[in-house]
Amino acid sequence: MTTSRAQLTHHSSGLASVCMLGILKVSEADRLPSFFDCYGLGIRMINGTGAWESALTNTLSPGDRIVSFLIGQFSLLWIDQQQRLNFNVDVVESDWGQGANLEVLASKLVADSAHTIKAICIVHNETATGVTNNLAVHPTLFLVDGVSSICALDFRMDEWGIDVALTGSQKALSLPTGMRIVCASPKALEASKTAKSLRVFFDWKDYLKFYKMGTFWPYTPSIQLLYGLRTALDLIFEEGLDNVIARHGRLAKATRQVILFDFFM
Ligand SMILES: Cc1ncc(COP(=O)(O)O)c(C=O)c1O
Repeated sequence: MTTSRAQLTHHSSGLASVCMLGILKVSEADRLPSFFDCYGLGIRMINGTGAWESALTNTLSPGDRIVSFLIGQFSLLWIDQQQRLNFNVDVVESDWGQGANLEVLASKLVADSAHTIKAICIVHNETATGVTNNLAVHPTLFLVDGVSSICALDFRMDEWGIDVALTGSQKALSLPTGMRIVCASPKALEASKTAKSLRVFFDWKDYLKFYKMGTFWPYTPSIQLLYGLRTALDLIFEEGLDNVIARHGRLAKATRQVILFDFFM
């Protein structure tokens, strides 16, 4: 229903306020202070795979060394993309279903006195968190796929020192697919000024330009998804982010218990 409302032109001030209200609401949540903050940069009409490419090409140059954790299907696909974009990918593999091997990461960071590691890539919901402990002493960028975790699991962009966080519409936001949100820290925005990877549609520069002009989108967004986002955020904050996260936790636990019960009966 929400997404079938009347159209607005995508350069109208009405649309800007639809987005602004939704986004400001999210910014109020103490866990995601930066996440929806730079929404002029962040909201685009592509899917999660496009968000990966946006995060990589805006912050890195071909040949840059990335430490990437292989812990499941989505990290496998992201690593494939990183390799095809000509980054030098240092893959750290763990058994699927296990968390990322943070000890290996810590030893790589300590050994990297020349700062050759330009980024660390991790899929949040295929792993455990806590990587930030090792990052404070290293200038590397920290890129996190939160496609199935943001608004479903505890996610603290600023506190964990995340430089690029991304999510998609079709998971915890309960929307149709087709929209993704990318958020960049000041460090990532700075890196985007010198990153040499080719990008056109994904170029943050264009989005920032239109954001500053107050018209927000250089290309035509899906107005329906923006209405949907606004409503999804209203629902999340009506229930309370903590309650939403707890509900996801309860349902996940119940699902695992049912599967285990069926398996052993
Ligand atoms: C954790 C994770 N990352 C990335 C993706 C890729 O998103 P998309 O299929 O929208 O490209 C998915 C899709 O389900 C996902 O679950």
